[in-house]
Amino acid sequence: MSFALPIPANQHFATMQWLLEDGRPVVRLLDQTRLPTETVYQDCRDGDTVRQAIRTLAVRGAPAIGVTAAYGIAQELLLALQAGMTAGQFDDVLAKSCADYAATRPTAVNLFWAIERMRAHGQASAGQPMATRVQDLVDQASAIHFDDVQCCLDMGRHGAPLLPDRGGVLTHCNTGGLATGGHGTGLGVVRSALALGKDLHVWIDETRPLLQGSRLTAWECAQDGIPSTLICDNMAGWVMKLGKVQAAIVGADRIAANGDSANKIGTYSVAVLCARHNIPFYVAAPTSTIDLDCPTGEQIPIEERSPDEVTTPRGVQFAASGVGVFNPAFDVAPAELIAAIITEEGVARAPFASDLKRFVAQAQRRRAGHL
Ligand code: MRU
Repeated sequence: MSFALPIPANQHFATMQWLLEDGRPVVRLLDQTRLPTETVYQDCRDGDTVRQAIRTLAVRGAPAIGVTAAYGIAQELLLALQAGMTAGQFDDVLAKSCADYAATRPTAVNLFWAIERMRAHGQASAGQPMATRVQDLVDQASAIHFDDVQCCLDMGRHGAPLLPDRGGVLTHCNTGGLATGGHGTGLGVVRSALALGKDLHVWIDETRPLLQGSRLTAWECAQDGIPSTLICDNMAGWVMKLGKVQAAIVGADRIAANGDSANKIGTYSVAVLCARHNIPFYVAAPTSTIDLDCPTGEQIPIEERSPDEVTTPRGVQFAASGVGVFNPAFDVAPAELIAAIITEEGVARAPFASDLKRFVAQAQRRRAGHL
């Protein structure tokens, strides 16, 4: 048994799914480490496997890892129930699962947002029969998934009018259905604009070192018929100079209260290039990406990943042996370079702080009672 998937009609793949196999919970993930050459679904039958998939980027993108962690927590509680968990153990099992998922990746705040919702929901059902409490967590994970897709569709509705009627839109990393529950953030806005009849062409930054642009965005555009051209990251400036880019749109992993936005490494360079060429630089992200406890980008934790990702991609040596490597996975685009931040609640404009605060409060009211 599985839930009906909340995938929008123009998306031809499912990033994550919840299944029951002979009553046992399975988190099924489209393995993004195998794309674009193989479309393989990985069936994760326990928490260690789901967490390993998050760490290795088999599932990645800020909203997608939040949704996956929510399903993963529900899975661990259901497995514990099936293994004979007593009522007195529920809180400890939930706390450990939340802590284990929180330790997977540090930058995307959507992960922590989803974990907090699962923790709060689990605590709120105290006193109910255990089977009810666990089923509540399963339902909550599914609600987080559906909410994420709806947020993406709403971002599309708010953001599409900002894009030109025709022209080029530069993207960085993968911000599509693969990075979310479905539809996408930055690429979702492009999907929505195309659906309105806009004549847009996506310029895809390849996004070194892990190539989320060339492997994932290019695959997603091909799957779903989105017109696109791939470029190496260091070509973006020249493509702008040639007049081929009328807007840039990226996602975010964490947006500070002042609008500074952390996203895939290389985003800062795109923002600077846009300023130089008078091209609007947009960030599209759900309110679950906004961290009002982070005053500025300075406080955002930036994940550093293995040097091997730079020197030896997919096991092939690309760099001289022994060279020193710095491999930050994210950088921060300063608020002053951002033309607008597109959320599901509306479009935030500089100086950002008041709009962001208002949108987070609005989203909390909207979700009250179901998330
Ligand atoms: O390391 P990744 O691939 O998880 O990084 C993802 C990004 O930086 C995306 O641009 C970001 O999550 C926003 S798109 C949903």
